Amino acid sequence: MVKFLVEGQRTLCGRVSINGAKNSALKLMVAALLGQGSFRLENVPSITDVETMAGVLRALGVRLHFASGCLQLEVSSVAGQTPEALVKSMRASVQVMGPLLARLGRVEVARPGGCNIGSRPLDIHLAGFEQMGATIEVKDDRFVARAPRLHGADITFRYPSVGATENIMMAATMAKGETIIRNAAREPEIVDIQGFLNGMGAKIQGAGTSVITIQGVGELGATDFSVVPDRIEAGTYLLAFLTTGGSGTVENVVPEHMAPLLGLLASMGAGVEVGEGEVSVVSPRRLKPFEASTGPYPEFPTDLQPQMVALATQAQGQSKLKEAVFDRRFGYTHELGKLGARITPNTSAVTIEGITSLYGTDLVAGDLRGGAAIVLAALAAEGQSTIFGVEHIDRGYEAMETQLTSLGAKIVRIAE
Ligand code: EPZ
Repeated sequence: MVKFLVEGQRTLCGRVSINGAKNSALKLMVAALLGQGSFRLENVPSITDVETMAGVLRALGVRLHFASGCLQLEVSSVAGQTPEALVKSMRASVQVMGPLLARLGRVEVARPGGCNIGSRPLDIHLAGFEQMGATIEVKDDRFVARAPRLHGADITFRYPSVGATENIMMAATMAKGETIIRNAAREPEIVDIQGFLNGMGAKIQGAGTSVITIQGVGELGATDFSVVPDRIEAGTYLLAFLTTGGSGTVENVVPEHMAPLLGLLASMGAGVEVGEGEVSVVSPRRLKPFEASTGPYPEFPTDLQPQMVALATQAQGQSKLKEAVFDRRFGYTHELGKLGARITPNTSAVTIEGITSLYGTDLVAGDLRGGAAIVLAALAAEGQSTIFGVEHIDRGYEAMETQLTSLGAKIVRIAE
């Protein structure tokens, strides 16, 4: 069991170097299943979700080696079962469906697990595969999809789902003919996957817009690629500086990808400075409250919603944040309440009163981003906090305690 001990009320300052994006790296690893040969992925974060995905790929016959941010993959024949336990521990594992269906004509996966932040159905993925000629069978909580050869289709999504866009895009690379995805998700990680697949020999255009066109090809090779910086990790550290009344810089980032967050921070009165591959923030004397809503990119990211709520506890006045992507992503507010935060959640929004003095106590992280918010609030609190459930945080943040300590925090990891 891993826990953090945090001594609060220390102002964070300094520079932090950002890793590659979890939500791209995991999908690039899966996309390699479509190819043949040796792959070299740079800027891969050392997080447990990457280890879990490596376990899924090994079970399918891929050979991998990971060292200091560089992942080497050897793909020749692909066969075998996706390991149920691993699939049930991570939502992203459902992304094997597209590549395996395209490559093998058959795939069987368990209903995926992952962060408990909402109902998270797969209807958009499955409807897309069916439009491409697949038959889908659901038995004992497992999905079995079959298609001797997928064919292209003109698919309009009812919602710009990130996962469905990626899954259909990957499947379509080796389908017969042209596929068009309309109302596609536009996240920067999807642009990364297009770049990677085109490096393998795919013919994809339009990623980053709401219409993506894919010309199917007969086979794909291998490529070397560097993962896009993690805009969510970067945003989390900028919010850590401001929640503790400090100032600092995140480097190795793409500032444009963080525009929704930076606009909101500037509206709260924070000093925001954008440089070449870096962003700096400076805390104002008093943070102003905000009103915002999450949404698909380029709207405010739902993966920064909990951390933004932690910041709002230190703003002068009442803030409001609507959650428009997931239907159950306020579980962490109960934990922030234990620190003394005044937060009123309802089904789709929270109201936060500030400035509130927070006092250290025992806390439990129940999911990845909620866990990050709990750490930020504990850093602002008076006295010591013990944070349990650190395994959730390790899924998406590389050595968070080391990064925070380098910025002046007092936080230690205790493994029992
Ligand atoms: C990806 O999840 C990310 N995960 C999530 O990050 C992120 O919050 C989310 O995109 C939105 O940005 C990974 O990339 C591994 P969606 P995904 O499909 O693909 C509904 C983190 O903290 N929906 O865009 O699951 C769904 O229920 C994680 O790093 C359907 O109804 O997101 C949700 O309400 C958490 N039917 C909404 O769409 C479907 O078939 C967005 O889901 C698919 C989705």
